Amino acid sequence: MRVVLLGSGRGSNAVAILEAQQKGKLGRARVVQIFSDNADAGILALGSRFGVPATWLDAAPFKTKLDAEGEQRYIAAISACAPDLIVLAGFMRVIKPPFLAAFAGKIINLHPSLLPSFPGLDGIGQAWRRGVKITGCTVHGVTAEVDGGPIIDQAAVRIEAGDTLETLAEKIHAAEHALLPAVIARLS
Ligand code: GAR
Repeated sequence: MRVVLLGSGRGSNAVAILEAQQKGKLGRARVVQIFSDNADAGILALGSRFGVPATWLDAAPFKTKLDAEGEQRYIAAISACAPDLIVLAGFMRVIKPPFLAAFAGKIINLHPSLLPSFPGLDGIGQAWRRGVKITGCTVHGVTAEVDGGPIIDQAAVRIEAGDTLETLAEKIHAAEHALLPAVIARLS
């Protein structure tokens, strides 16, 4: 199963996926390409570390979506990888219908809350400010509704009395690092 990773940030979930692959814990899934919309993203540095091509793909001029040209650039570059699965691991742009149609049913996303609670930006901070006692992370299929696609799996994280926003974020990231590779292995 050929996997393409898309990310915008530090890439800690990509590390978890690639380490699982190295340990033989990613089933029949193989990461064949990493793409980022952010030229400075930590996720791009993982390419040389793990021996996977990692490429910046221009996504100008917008910050949280792709214009029509950018969308075509992404579709062409990803199609060239012949992916069976596209994993959004911290990819901070909305995926619109032409992109979805090009890879129907093949795109999954990681979100740092127990959806349908706290969709959109800053899922961790939203849960923290709302004062819930249990939050977590979700892997779901991507549809045109932002963070609204079918839920594949979730992991719960309890907010304890001594937690801060920072310790909560650490706990959620640790839960993500276990959940996402396990889901990919199951889908493979
Ligand atoms: C993860 O916490 C992921 O859930 C979140 O971005 C982070 C990426 O971290 N995604 C979203 O908020 C998507 N709306 P990473 O770059 O260290 O893997």
